[in-house]
Amino acid sequence: MAPVIGVFDSGFGGLTVLRELRKSLPGADYLYFGDTAHLPYGAKSVRTVAKYATASAHFLEQSGIEILVIACNTATALAFDDIRNAVKVPVVGVIEPGAERAATISKTKKAAVLATEATVASHAYQLALQRLGLQATEKACPLFVPLVEEGWVEHPVTEEVAHIYIDEIFSEHAAAREADVLVLGCTHYPLLRPLLRRVVPARVEIVDSAESTAAKVVEMLGKNSAQGKEGGIRCYTTDSVEKFRVLGGRFLGSPITHTELIDIEK
Ligand code: DGL
Repeated sequence: MAPVIGVFDSGFGGLTVLRELRKSLPGADYLYFGDTAHLPYGAKSVRTVAKYATASAHFLEQSGIEILVIACNTATALAFDDIRNAVKVPVVGVIEPGAERAATISKTKKAAVLATEATVASHAYQLALQRLGLQATEKACPLFVPLVEEGWVEHPVTEEVAHIYIDEIFSEHAAAREADVLVLGCTHYPLLRPLLRRVVPARVEIVDSAESTAAKVVEMLGKNSAQGKEGGIRCYTTDSVEKFRVLGGRFLGSPITHTELIDIEK
């Protein structure tokens, strides 16, 4: 039997993680939960994020998942322990796998991290990287999420904004000047990867937490557990189904066929 993998995010962005999971485990069945009614999490408090994230995790658990992937960096940073304590299935977040990949790559043992305001304020990436012997400089990039959702992934305005953020992190912080790895610590940023590659200094390798997380899930489930015939994807959203289909398709890189509206506050 193919495994049923639950993927949770504050909205559409976690579909970048699902996209990576599908490449490695195409035969798995996926239940994706996007809490779009409460998006963005990146500017919310621990209490609020934990409340919504645990309710969503319960919903997925009751729907029969065997493993839960917290694709949202902010939810992982602020509420990982709350979510893990709230469900019985194994839970994988995006921060540890991203930090582990950065630690494997970095020679200078200095990393830069781009994330939402809440993720940066929690210092979850900094702490995870520190545990692996790396010094990290974090930078909140609040304008990236709305720009990506607008579809401006190759727009001059986004490129200008990226230049400002990247210049700030690499020139104003002494430790970041030596960084040889940049972690994309937000679900939306993988879509900006080609643009960021042009803006980020050439010596710096870009690490995508979505890819590292998919690799972690493969390690846990075993590569052979979900090969062969393509499994299904069912999506649940807490706000407009139509908007989820349109925006979600961009993040997933393929059309979204099955989406259901869910009220987690009931
Ligand atoms: N999913 C969030 C993250 O990865 C970004 C969008 C939000 O702020 O909710 O941090």
